[in-house]
Amino acid sequence: MQIRKLNIHEAPPIDLLLLADPSLPLVKEYLNTGECYIVEDYKEIIGVYVLLSKSLDTIELVNIAVSESAQGKGIGKQLIIDAIRRSKVKGYKTIEVGTGNSSIGQLALYQKCGFRITSIDSDFFTRHYKEDIFENGIWCRDMIRLSQQLN
Ligand code: COA
Repeated sequence: MQIRKLNIHEAPPIDLLLLADPSLPLVKEYLNTGECYIVEDYKEIIGVYVLLSKSLDTIELVNIAVSESAQGKGIGKQLIIDAIRRSKVKGYKTIEVGTGNSSIGQLALYQKCGFRITSIDSDFFTRHYKEDIFENGIWCRDMIRLSQQLN
């Protein structure tokens, strides 16, 4: 599986990015300030993530998504492993990620990839999103923050 940086002249996979974050302004901000990486299947982009530098030492993984028809085949895990490897090569000491309190599968996946829960940003989603978000029958209100050291 070849994961590569999105070329500056290529159109970003907006629909895919919106799967991870329903806010178009936030997705655009991440694309403007971060680096977008993709994986393709016969020229169609089926997976994406964005790396966002937060400080000299810390980088954040945002907007990771795999197209619905390709989910559950290990691609998401490969993308996370790739993001961790690239962040290490770039010299960052810590990689962070955030997800909703209702995102059970994502919380499992990040922890399987070595992330540990560090804090909770209470009411993050109720503060930043107009519409209520429900997932797995749970109201998504808080952001669970996770991180791992890159030694
Ligand atoms: N409970 C426990 N483990 C779960 C789980 C759950 N509910 N859901 C997924 N997992 C585990 C899988 O078992 C697998 O672990 P394994 O390798 O030990 O078997 C692991 O997560 C990875 O699965 P994988 O097939 O690599 O994930 P994927 O390709 O489907 O991608 C997402 C995962 C989250 C990127 C994908 O589902 C997606 O795009 N979702 C919509 C966008 C999104 O929510 N992005 C994240 C925003 S925080």
